[in-house]
Amino acid sequence: MRITILYNNKYLNIFLSVVSGIATLFVVTFTSSAQEAIHIDQFISSDTCKDCHSEIFDQWENSMHYLSHKDPVYSRISQFLRKGLTDQNHIKEAESCVKCHTPIGVETGFPKKVSDDLSKTPKIATFGVQCDYCHSAKTIKQMYNNGLVIQPGNGEDDPGIKYGPFDDAVPDFHEAEFSKMHTESKFCGTCHDVKHVVFGTGLETTYTEWKQSPYNAADPEKKINCQGCHMYQKPEIPATGSTIRPENPGTATDYSDERPHIFTHYFVGANTVVPAQFGDKSKGKMAIERLKNAATISVDTSKINQKKLNITVTNTGAGHSIPTGVADLRQVWLEVTIKDKNNKTGFQTGILNSRHELPEDSVIFRTVFGDGNGNAIINLAKAKEVLSDNRIKAKQSVTETIDLPEIPEKGSMVTARLLYRSMSRKILNMIPGKPFETQPIVEMAMKQNQI
Ligand code: HEC
Ligand code: HEC
Ligand code: HEC
Ligand code: HEC
Ligand code: HEC
Repeated sequence: MRITILYNNKYLNIFLSVVSGIATLFVVTFTSSAQEAIHIDQFISSDTCKDCHSEIFDQWENSMHYLSHKDPVYSRISQFLRKGLTDQNHIKEAESCVKCHTPIGVETGFPKKVSDDLSKTPKIATFGVQCDYCHSAKTIKQMYNNGLVIQPGNGEDDPGIKYGPFDDAVPDFHEAEFSKMHTESKFCGTCHDVKHVVFGTGLETTYTEWKQSPYNAADPEKKINCQGCHMYQKPEIPATGSTIRPENPGTATDYSDERPHIFTHYFVGANTVVPAQFGDKSKGKMAIERLKNAATISVDTSKINQKKLNITVTNTGAGHSIPTGVADLRQVWLEVTIKDKNNKTGFQTGILNSRHELPEDSVIFRTVFGDGNGNAIINLAKAKEVLSDNRIKAKQSVTETIDLPEIPEKGSMVTARLLYRSMSRKILNMIPGKPFETQPIVEMAMKQNQI
């Protein structure tokens, strides 16, 4: 049998098949197939969604999703990591960042990679992870590196179906359909699990951490998805694992009927820096509220005569490890100070130096990646292995033993603090150009014990 393609375009294929001298003509038509390239004009600006969903828009505006493309920390780090690479495997990874940070761009053909001229990014794509991207997601084809399958409508004249949590929505403008996927962690997880595109190293593992945690309970009543914490948060309601997560009654549009719960769209994690740079005053505060309700700390002085201090940190509030996400860049560390009865400082650890860097002997909870030969690396594009990961898993505790140079005198005060900042200063200092401003430090937990 011989098949000849006589004609094809995206709507029509004409084949000629010749079997034992008998020729048959096949005509195959495609109306709208999932494989078909999506055009940028098919996506609708979030400003249009705002016309009806104004409250949700205001929450999402200047969130880390809204800023995922514009975030200067991300954009400068991704350009920095791309520079000077020569190994094709490293280059492939360093070019791949746009897949999640500029998803509408990648979906519709530009940018394809970090080294493209990003100033030519179509305007709508510069708004990062946005309304019509998330709500056009139909299925998931892989559980990492953004495996969402997107089916937008055809622009404002034919907005298509928006998928969401309601099975009884009576929308106007667009159609609506219930999507179980949107109510589940895996929807978030496909972007919140990042694997090296060649080596497969788990660079970000938030979803996997959650999946293996007690929050992923078999009993649906006890299960708490990403949305169950992050889309219940609002100002003064951090909605963590250690605080109440009350429902948020309200309406999905400015004119719809009241519903028992409207999922909030602030998407606050721990970033206290970037939204404020874009003029958002509330999200940094919300991140602090979240961080202050994530962990507890305790101090055990029973081994002090052996010059040992045991500090235990418990993850009481996060549905994944602390820290999570870019866990090689984030810094969560122990600051311990011992002062004698006259308030004179004796032992100290975890104190920033004059360049705002942490001494190497500090207890830092983080992931360290290696080059495959046991050498620690800074550039994730070269990450072939995880050398160490001492982060605090969900609902678990980690005890760190601190060796003291001498036995502190009786009556001394031990102060232990668990501190957070979103970026290692050492990395920020390496990035050429205008220096980054000093990162605020958030006290996640504090405990004092007298010896
Ligand atoms: C003309 C007003 C209007 C505009 C513009 C609009 N929507 Fe809606 N939308 C509605 C109404 C009304 C509902 C139903 C609310 C309800 O049932 O409580 C709705 C419901 C939804 C739902 C829930 C669907 C479900 O079944 O769970 C999603 C998701 C949604 N809209 C997304 C969007 C997005 C994304 C945009 C912009 C591309 C948008 N909407 C623009 C009016 C609008
Ligand atoms: C990161 C993806 C994401 C983005 C961006 C996003 N949403 Fe949602 N949205 C969701 C998810 C997930 C739910 C449902 C959560 C659940 O059921 O657990 C939801 C729920 C909704 C609903 C139902 C009402 C509610 O809030 O419970 C509407 C309407 C809606 N979104 C509109 C919007 C609009 C408008 C924007 C942009 C301003 C937007 N969404 C941006 C993921 C997103
Ligand atoms: C039980 C509540 C809870 C659940 C469930 C939860 N989180 Fe979190 N999340 C938190 C808390 C508390 C923090 C702040 C502490 C921290 O950074 O870990 C946080 C922080 C984050 C951060 C910022 C981390 C950083 O330091 O940069 C991201 C990203 C995040 N969560 C995503 C997710 C995703 C994705 C899921 C689902 C797979 C999820 N979360 C499930 C409570 C939760
Ligand atoms: C299309 C990919 C994508 C999807 C889907 C997605 N996210 Fe994200 N998310 C991102 C990116 C990219 C960032 C980081 C932006 C930055 O830091 O520049 C981010 C940031 C966040 C942050 C802020 C972290 C911080 O440090 O403060 C939270 C919280 C978060 N996402 C939660 C969620 C939740 C919950 C869902 C599911 C409802 C979800 N995300 C779905 C891509 C995605
Ligand atoms: C599979 C999706 C995905 C890909 C691909 C991806 N990221 Fe991200 N990125 C995220 C998510 C999700 C977060 C939020 C996690 C957090 O806040 O810790 C994030 C956060 C970041 C942050 C923190 C920004 C801040 O303001 O603190 C930096 C920096 C970053 N990514 C750099 C990169 C670089 C560089 C690449 C390419 C080598 C890349 N990302 C590829 C999903 C992705």
